[in-house]
Amino acid sequence: MSAFVVQGGRRLEGSVQVHGAKNSVLPILAASLLSGGECVIKNCPRLSDVAASVEILRHLGCRVRREEDAVIVDASQPTGWEVPDELMREMRSSVIFLGAILGRMGRAKLCAPGGCELGPRPIDLHLAAIRALGGTVEEEGGSLLCSGALRGGEIVFSLRSVGATENAMLSAVCAQGQTTITNAAREPEIVDLQNFLRCLGADVQGAGSSVITIRGGRPLHGGEFTVMGDRIVAATYLAAAAAAGGDVQVTGADWRHLSTVTAVLAEAGCTVESGLRAIRLRRTGPLRGVRPVRTAPYPGFPTDAQAPLMAAMTVSTGATVFVENIFESRYRHVDELARMGADIRVEGRVAVVYGVPALHGAPVQAADLRGGAALVVAALAARGESVVTGVQHIDRGYQDLAGDLDLLGAQVKRSGEFVKIT
Ligand code: UD1
Repeated sequence: MSAFVVQGGRRLEGSVQVHGAKNSVLPILAASLLSGGECVIKNCPRLSDVAASVEILRHLGCRVRREEDAVIVDASQPTGWEVPDELMREMRSSVIFLGAILGRMGRAKLCAPGGCELGPRPIDLHLAAIRALGGTVEEEGGSLLCSGALRGGEIVFSLRSVGATENAMLSAVCAQGQTTITNAAREPEIVDLQNFLRCLGADVQGAGSSVITIRGGRPLHGGEFTVMGDRIVAATYLAAAAAAGGDVQVTGADWRHLSTVTAVLAEAGCTVESGLRAIRLRRTGPLRGVRPVRTAPYPGFPTDAQAPLMAAMTVSTGATVFVENIFESRYRHVDELARMGADIRVEGRVAVVYGVPALHGAPVQAADLRGGAALVVAALAARGESVVTGVQHIDRGYQDLAGDLDLLGAQVKRSGEFVKIT
């Protein structure tokens, strides 16, 4: 069993570059299925979720290879339209392939994703989008069968969903005619997907706003594209420096995508300088409690940064209220943080963190990706040794957490078997 063994209590100093964004590269890999040529996807991180997406593409008949930081997909002759159960289970967000497979192959069969570690994960909005473009959806025996020649239409979402917006975009690119997506999610990763689709010759406009317009039906060619930097990995490293104290620079992510996170860290007493090349965070004095942190769709405070920030706030002076508005079950890190001495009370979607003078090292277990990263953040601030297990969750979104933190002078070792992800 793998674990991160962390010797806490050391200040972090130095510079670290974040890898390509997981939440950007997954829909981009799905989108590569729509291309008639070769897609060279650069800055593609080595993550278990990326490996799972590559397996799905191969299963669908694409040729996929890696050359250094690039994944190269040749989808000129796809043959498959079904994603088997075992590949769906590898990655929760594999539903992102639905629109692309249906659009490219005229039909798609996937097993319905159930709940996940963050609570129920409904896909009603994904299916509504497909129906709005004339696709039919049959649900039988836990499988979803979608078919039909798609045509442009009006998609109006009742709430902003990142995955449903991406699925709608991929379906609409294949649908003949014009599609308008209203109340679209506005995350930077959706803009990245738009840019990738444009690089393949698609006509997509409006991503980053709440209305996206697509003129679909054009054949797509190959292209070369560089994936944006991972803003959540950047937020994690900034939270780590806030928790442990120190002076760090994070490069490779766009500071504008992190302004709600850096604003909170500044309010907590850190000095943050955001520039085009790097975000620098210094924490010399104590961390202070801040006004309530409410997670919200972009440009609000990201739910994915809630757990790492909470880990930092456990060692603040005063109290901080967190309100988790996106997912039902996103406080599974709280009991583990308590094992390290944190004082956190949870009631439904609200968690109140009462800062303590110090945490102590403890054996803790990650139950989900960002919650797992939060345990490492807390361990860096804690006195003594912590052992964080459940590392497979962290591998979904951090290419080399121990190596990156080592660059910042932290003492984090990975023990146990290490499966190198290509
Ligand atoms: C994506 C991100 C994830 C992030 C989340 C919110 C990827 C691969 N994952 O997940 O890291 O935490 O956005 O920023 O990009 N919902 C429905 N019906 C649907 C779809 C969603 O009710 O058909 C609800 C969800 O239960 C949730 C909310 O909408 O409460 C937002 O979820 P959504 O934006 O879809 O998250 P994901 O795309 O799954």
